[in-house]
Amino acid sequence: MSNEQQPEFWERNFTEKREMWGLDPAQSAFKAKDIFRAQGAKSILVPGFGYGRNAQLFRAQGMQVTGIEISASAIAMAEKHYGHSMKIWHGSVTDMPFDEKRYDGIFCYALIHLLGAAERRKLISDCYRQLAANGQMIFTVISKEASTYGTGTLISKDRYEQFGGVTMFFYDRISIEEEFGAAGLEEVSRITEHFPFYFIRCRKK
Ligand SMILES: C[S@@+](CC[C@H](N)C(=O)[O-])C[C@H]1O[C@@H](n2cnc3c(N)ncnc32)[C@H](O)[C@@H]1O
Repeated sequence: MSNEQQPEFWERNFTEKREMWGLDPAQSAFKAKDIFRAQGAKSILVPGFGYGRNAQLFRAQGMQVTGIEISASAIAMAEKHYGHSMKIWHGSVTDMPFDEKRYDGIFCYALIHLLGAAERRKLISDCYRQLAANGQMIFTVISKEASTYGTGTLISKDRYEQFGGVTMFFYDRISIEEEFGAAGLEEVSRITEHFPFYFIRCRKK
């Protein structure tokens, strides 16, 4: 199943479960905030924005945040919690770019592993293209070490349909190198969120 068929999945989830991950930022967002701050980043793009719990951390540092989010309900929740001053594009990351800006940082949490191979490739190159010189993009992705790896319906190598309709591609260091190696890959480290994740950091040359 292509990600294009998943807007209803996310809309249903946000309508039923509301702030399903709470309002605290993810561990990866704290780490990203320190990296962006050390870099002096002023503008951050957040593809797969959700309801804004991670973006808030960057805004608290004075960074200007722009989002991209497929679920209108998630955007409405973000505006309820954090106001209307952020630009959040309503659409799919597969239709990037939404603007012609170059961002100092990009933070993409738990989104890319939902996409098919061609969509993942396009997202990485679209994000890289939207980075300013020396800018950094950070992706967090689910690892093959997650207990859910191998469950559900196999779609293609390391990709499964699970949880009532969502598809997940499980990464290891080899697939990370294959997909991000040509996009300024500088760091791959483990980080534990709800599942074992990889924290991937790339820099625009
Ligand atoms: C696992 S959630 C993570 C949300 C957010 N990053 C957070 O940590 O709170 C994935 C998010 O990406 C959004 N999403 C899924 N597919 C998308 C797509 N193709 N384009 C834009 N957003 C998408 C979902 O609606 C959801 O908000």
